[in-house]
Amino acid sequence: MTMRHGYMIAFLSVLTVSYALWKYELDRPKLVHKPQDKVRTYTHNEIAKNRTMYIQAKFGNSCYKTQVYDTWWQTFTLPPGLKRSNQSDCQKRLPNVIIIGVKKCASDALRDFLIVHPSIVYSHAPKTYNGIKVTGSGEAHFLDRHYDHGIDFYRNLFPYSKPGDTLLEKTPQYLNFPDDVPKRIYEDVGPHTKIIAIVCDPVTRAISDYVFEKKHRFYKYLVPNMIYTIRSNFSDSVTENSRQGNIDAGNDLINVGIYAYHLVRWTEYFPLSQIHLVDGGVFRNDPLSELRRLETFLGLPVFFRNEHFFRNPDTNMFCVAFPEHRCLSKEKKGQHHPDVDVKTIDRLREFYRPYDRQLVEMFDRIFSWMDTDILLPRGRH
Ligand SMILES: *[C@@H]1O[C@H](CO)[C@@H](O)[C@H](O)[C@H]1NC(C)=O
Ligand SMILES: *[C@@H]1O[C@H](CO)[C@@H](O)[C@H](O)[C@H]1NC(C)=O
Ligand SMILES: *[C@@H]1O[C@H](CO)[C@@H](O)[C@H](O)[C@H]1NC(C)=O
Repeated sequence: MTMRHGYMIAFLSVLTVSYALWKYELDRPKLVHKPQDKVRTYTHNEIAKNRTMYIQAKFGNSCYKTQVYDTWWQTFTLPPGLKRSNQSDCQKRLPNVIIIGVKKCASDALRDFLIVHPSIVYSHAPKTYNGIKVTGSGEAHFLDRHYDHGIDFYRNLFPYSKPGDTLLEKTPQYLNFPDDVPKRIYEDVGPHTKIIAIVCDPVTRAISDYVFEKKHRFYKYLVPNMIYTIRSNFSDSVTENSRQGNIDAGNDLINVGIYAYHLVRWTEYFPLSQIHLVDGGVFRNDPLSELRRLETFLGLPVFFRNEHFFRNPDTNMFCVAFPEHRCLSKEKKGQHHPDVDVKTIDRLREFYRPYDRQLVEMFDRIFSWMDTDILLPRGRH
C-alpha cells in the first residue's frame, strides 16, 4: 500500500463517518432534549414582517396552542378546546384594558386593528354562558346588562390569560350608560384598569347613529333604558318641537356625543393619565399614528407600522394588511348619510361647542373635527 493509498483510505473513512454522523443527525427525532416551548425570541422587526414569526410571538408562549391562530383570526375567538393543558399560570382573569366607546366612532375598527398587536389577548365574549344569553356582537356588556350576574360571570367571559398579559374588552355603551359604570369598574374590576375611548365628530356621529338605529332599531330590543327618539327625518329627531327647535339633549342621538359630560364622571374614579382618547378622525386617515399613541399609553412594545394597513378602494376605509388582509364587513359600516339641512348642522355645532372645548381642556388636545380657535371665547372673532 502506497502512501497515497493510505491518505485516500483515511480521507474516505472520514467522509464515511461524517456522512453517517450527518445522516444520524437527520434521522434522529428532533428536539428530544429541548423543552418544546423554548423558541428563539424574535426581534420586533422580524415579528412585524414575517407571519410565521408573528404567530409564534403571539401564541407560542400563550395559554393556547399555536394552531389557535386560524380560528382566532377568522372568528375573533380563542376556543377553550385549544388551550394548552400544562400552563399552570393560565387562568380566567378580569380585563386590564377596556374600550368604553364610542358608538359609531369606529370602535369596531379600533378593536380589530389593536388586537393584532402580539401582546394583546382578545377573544369575543361567548353568545351564551351558563345558559344565559350574553351577546350577539362579541361585546361582553357586563357592566350595563349583566352586572347582576356577578363578577365571576364577567371573568368567565374572557379567554385564559397569564399574569403579564394585556387583556382587552370593548363595549361601547360603557361611556355613557349606565351612570355608575366607572364606579363598577373601579370597585369590581380594579382601580388600575386602563380606559380607552375613540371619539369622533359628535354631529357626524349623531347622523350615523340615526341612520343605524332607524334601520336596525337595536335601541328598542337590546338596550333597555337608552332613550332614543327616531322620527322620519334626522332634524326632526334631534330637535324638540315644543321648545322652538332646541336641541334635544335627552335624546341619546345627541347625548352620547356630549363626551366631556360623560368623561367627567370617569375622572371621579380614574386619573386622566389612565384614560386615553383616540381621535376617530385621525384614526380614519392615519390609523398608524393613533395605534402608536396607544402602544405608548398601554406600555406595549412598538409593533405597528405602515405596511400593516391599506386603504380599501371600494370603501375608502383602511383595512388590516398583516398578518393577513382583513376589512370590516361592508354592510354594517360606512352607511350613506342623508342630507341634513345646514340650519340643523349649525345648531348642533353650536350646541356641542362648549362640551368640545371642555374636552380640549381635559385632554389637552384639539381633536380633528374642532376649529383651531375652539379655546377662544365666542365673541372675540
Ligand atoms: C406542554 O405541552 C406540550 C404539548 O402538550 C409539550 O410539547 C410541551 O413540552 C409542554 N411544555 C411544558 C413546559 O411542559
Ligand atoms: C419567516 O420565518 C420563518 C421561521 O423563522 C422562516 O422559515 C421563513 O423563511 C420566513 N419567511 C420569510 C418570507 O422570510
Ligand atoms: C322633517 O319632517 C318634518 C315632518 O315630519 C317636516 O316638517 C320637515 O320639513 C322635515 N325636514 C326635512 C329637513 O326634511
